[in-house]
Amino acid sequence: EQIKKGSYDHFMQKEIHEQPHSLTTTMRGRLKDGGVLLGGLKEHLKTIRRCRRVVFIGCGTSYNAALAARTFVEELTGIPVTMEVASDLLDRQGPIYREDTAVFVSQSGETADTLLALDYALENGALCVGITNTVGSTLSRKTHCGVHINAGCEIGVASTKAYTSQIVAMAMMALAIGSDQISTQARRNAIISGLTSLPSCVSEVLKLDAEMKDLASSLIDSESLLVFGRGYNYATALEGALKVKEVALMHSEGMLAGEMKHGPLALVDEILPIIVIATRDACFSKQQSVIQQLLSRKGRLIVMCSKGDASAVCSNGSCRVIEVPGVADCLQPVINIIPLQLLAYHLTVLRGFDVDQPRNLAKSVTTQ
Ligand code: G6P
Repeated sequence: EQIKKGSYDHFMQKEIHEQPHSLTTTMRGRLKDGGVLLGGLKEHLKTIRRCRRVVFIGCGTSYNAALAARTFVEELTGIPVTMEVASDLLDRQGPIYREDTAVFVSQSGETADTLLALDYALENGALCVGITNTVGSTLSRKTHCGVHINAGCEIGVASTKAYTSQIVAMAMMALAIGSDQISTQARRNAIISGLTSLPSCVSEVLKLDAEMKDLASSLIDSESLLVFGRGYNYATALEGALKVKEVALMHSEGMLAGEMKHGPLALVDEILPIIVIATRDACFSKQQSVIQQLLSRKGRLIVMCSKGDASAVCSNGSCRVIEVPGVADCLQPVINIIPLQLLAYHLTVLRGFDVDQPRNLAKSVTTQ
């Protein structure tokens, strides 16, 4: 086992640091001549373009990856996207139609709830697409078509490199579906060039490791941690909080910053640490105002912002600031989750818990 970990102490740590490579393999051979080539979807693109809506279905981190993809899938394809946690779709027996494209996201391709939701969508006649890391998995066999994310084997129970590769696979899927639209050509080109530079930006953000360890040591005794995000980075807030919860065994909640005034604001005091994701995108000024409101209530803030924006997000210097490299706005979640993965990792080690096998959790939940 130690040999497989190489120079790392834990698989989670190794998998976090592997991301420049895993993202490269996710994209390998798929970005061609200014376009995207996804062999597993090619035959079905016309049907997907004609569908009434896209329904994303998954559990845990895979659900969060789909949520991160939702905004750019809507933007690049013009198709409405709805989100379903697999177990909830089954509990409700929610409507799925033959005119729907149901996209199932699962690292293992074996999660029981996701597979049962797949059976349900197949019975209802939807076109079923699989996004998985596991060639030959039940998900990849039962879906009509799909994309393998090719992130390499993930051993840590808490998913890290699969999450970022899932987002990139779905970005390529959105680019392929939207490739017949002339009006979005310039935007697509910008995203494709963003994808090309993504692995090097990930290498850069990984240099925050020591800084995140230091931040972790300041949070080691906290009882709770909130993470506020919105727009492209709502998913980042949910996923960052999930990482902290599942491995560091600390209560943590990801929240939609737009909902702050409708409840969460009551929790703000000088003790509760709050991470606010405020990198540059169309929501930036709204996040600036969220930070102001939290500061005026003496909130203990840690702000993640784009490089060079420290004073734009916190002019009085009372927040702890994490500066990350900027990429195309819709790909920013791939960068932004990495400091939070590192934070969860270091918090776990410092708190003395098992990083790779968190209490009560399994890598693949194959029973309902
Ligand atoms: C378990 C794992 C999570 C994972 C989820 C969904 O809860 O601990 O890391 O996100 O299952 O797994 P899947 O294989 O479907 O992506």
